[in-house]
Amino acid sequence: MTPPSPTRFLTGITTSGTPHLGNYVGSVRHSVRFSRRADVQSFYFLADYHALIKVDDPLRIQRSTLEIAATWLACGLDPERVTFYRQSDIPEIPELTWFLTCVTGKGILNRAHAYKASVDKNVAKGEDPDADVSAGLFMYPVLMGADILMFNAHKVPVGRDQVQHIEMARDMAQRFNHLYGEHFTLPEAEIDDAVATLPGLDGRKMSKSYDNTIPLFTPRAQLQKLIGAIVTDSRAPGEPKDTEGSALFQIYQAFADADETAALRQAYADGIAWADAKQLVFERIDREVGPMRAHYDALINDPAQIERILLAGAEKARALSQPFIARLRHAVGLRRLEAPAAATQRKAAKVARPSFKQYRESDGQFYFKLLDAHGGLLLQSLAFASPQDAGRAIGRLQQEGGAALPALAEQLEPADNDKMRAAAEALEALAATSGG
Ligand code: TRP
Repeated sequence: MTPPSPTRFLTGITTSGTPHLGNYVGSVRHSVRFSRRADVQSFYFLADYHALIKVDDPLRIQRSTLEIAATWLACGLDPERVTFYRQSDIPEIPELTWFLTCVTGKGILNRAHAYKASVDKNVAKGEDPDADVSAGLFMYPVLMGADILMFNAHKVPVGRDQVQHIEMARDMAQRFNHLYGEHFTLPEAEIDDAVATLPGLDGRKMSKSYDNTIPLFTPRAQLQKLIGAIVTDSRAPGEPKDTEGSALFQIYQAFADADETAALRQAYADGIAWADAKQLVFERIDREVGPMRAHYDALINDPAQIERILLAGAEKARALSQPFIARLRHAVGLRRLEAPAAATQRKAAKVARPSFKQYRESDGQFYFKLLDAHGGLLLQSLAFASPQDAGRAIGRLQQEGGAALPALAEQLEPADNDKMRAAAEALEALAATSGG
């Protein structure tokens, strides 16, 4: 029996700033927990190409990349379990960006929120609509589409502000599939409304653009000082206080369990002094963050180790992206000139009981093919150095079915999409009749 293939989740984090408590509560904490689930395959990446759209300070890009990587690792992301990589280590992503650029209507990009907001602002000021708008900002959704489609992610956890981008990625996938065959999975946004957005020091949403953040791994003394600076009202000790609209209370709630939250609510009603409430909030947050802070500091002070982890992650990611881009290049017609033109399209025959044949050629190399029930050729491998290598590829096809085809593309003779679909169906039929 083939195990159900896991759902692939993919998330990118733009490397333009220092992670703060809001990022932790809104994304990191939840994602790390989620990545431990057995039925999920996760891709986390540092979106440093995206950062270039907003940040022109090279040191800040480098520093932010280090800080964000260290944050995810300190918070428990296991790079053995997930694929954790840096976007700019995957050259297939900019290549795919170009392929997608060519199937994306310019008018669609005109309607992207981030670009439109800039244009609207310019128009309101009576300036040229595109004043100070870079082509990078305009193309942002295409780069993001490439991130997602490169790894055929099923689900992309995002905030509501990013949903439009996922829909655009779907459109690009659909358009490309329509033109060149079924290559891309259609991604879906996964919005988690349970995840809190945190107020910042001034009570507005904690965000680097409001300059009201509390860095997640700021030193303990600094954390205490910043929590002391959260806005409150002027009620004196002994006066009952409102939890409604209290940034301090909301921040506490994001860390505390239900009993702790109820206790603070009572303390508010009983007139706790703001200074005491702030001390309580500080201690509660530090209880959770403190142990990770030590790990974070150690990581930040050993950038070479993080670099190694990211490069290992890139290798894992490229094991998927390299064969996949090879397949896409072939699909769009960027082909070796001696490769035969695709056979005329024909409908795949229904297959009953396909089989693998493994054999050795006179060149001394090992090969396999997948045949349909009538002996028709569905898949032809390229040469393997050993029968074990060929067997491993077969094993993977038997285990993962058609989903393994992109990853194995470099070990197979190129085939057109009808062939590929027929092969995928045959693998399914095989799994269904193997009685395992
Ligand atoms: N646009 C996202 C942000 O600003 C970051 C990002 C880049 C991303 N590529 C992605 C998120 C792909 C999800 C999937 O937060």
